[in-house]
Amino acid sequence: MRVRVLGSAAGGGFPQWNCHCSGCRRARAGDPAVKPRTQASLAVSADGKRWVLLNASPDLPAQLRDNDILHPDNNGPARNNPIAAVIISGGDIDCITGLLTLREGHAFRLYAQDFVMSVLNANQVFSVMNGDLVAREILPPASPVTLHDASGQELGLRVEAFPVPGKIPLYQEEGRDLSALVSAESVIGLSVTDDAGKTLLFIPGCAHVTPEILERAKNAEIVFFDGTLWQDREMIDAGLSQKTGARMGHISVSGECGTIAAFSALMRTRKIFIHINNTNPILCDDSEEAKKVRDSGWDVAYDGMEVTL
Ligand code: MLT
Ligand code: MN
Ligand code: ZN
Repeated sequence: MRVRVLGSAAGGGFPQWNCHCSGCRRARAGDPAVKPRTQASLAVSADGKRWVLLNASPDLPAQLRDNDILHPDNNGPARNNPIAAVIISGGDIDCITGLLTLREGHAFRLYAQDFVMSVLNANQVFSVMNGDLVAREILPPASPVTLHDASGQELGLRVEAFPVPGKIPLYQEEGRDLSALVSAESVIGLSVTDDAGKTLLFIPGCAHVTPEILERAKNAEIVFFDGTLWQDREMIDAGLSQKTGARMGHISVSGECGTIAAFSALMRTRKIFIHINNTNPILCDDSEEAKKVRDSGWDVAYDGMEVTL
């Protein structure tokens, strides 16, 4: 399986349009230690020809331009593109908005859990994806599904959706009390396995690491995991927001209850942080925090990064 990181930043991207925190300033100034990043998404492929997007980021137009694996075949029909399927892991803006980019008469298969499919079905704007070309298929929880393109051809990959602790999307929060924000079905992790039995986990949003997640990670070759914040109060301390990471449904990278600690027994699996917020110092290659991450056996995803399983 080939895996290309299309985008590695959290919602808002890096630098974020309305932010001049120190990381955003350095990225905007072209500092070579601080690479700009688009909003999180992966492309995966079993044959290197037909690609499956994991989440459709608002930055998809730029990602399509920057990644030649997703360019049309000049020897193919007048209109064509290698995207054969798209799988969505949550209802947040940074997971679904790129679907609106895929509206120009291209056939593909769209997979999402019931919760997200209901959001898409209820929002008329997503009907720009022509129903004759885009088949919508609900991903059942904890049950592997063989991936197909729009015409029913197998793509050589299976996906299993599993629930992870998370929060309902920001735009649904209004009027709900805090206890109703935590949701069992709104966020999923994706486990993608090829015909050789090699597995990738994609968990770009997660409130805490459960025993099930650890067990799945142990059996995977590689895990891309929520790297939103270095520490829980980061946005508050920077004067940028009133919200903790916990309030946003995101575990922190550091600390006793953080991700590095939670995965510390996991030696064999390659571990990569993705969905990284612009305030997280691990985005600066020369920071203490980035060094700690590397010393703990983790990588920090960057746009254009490619790994092969
Ligand atoms: C998140 O991951 O917390 C969301 O992307 C927030 C948002 O929708 O802006
Ligand atoms: Mn997000
Ligand atoms: Zn910033």
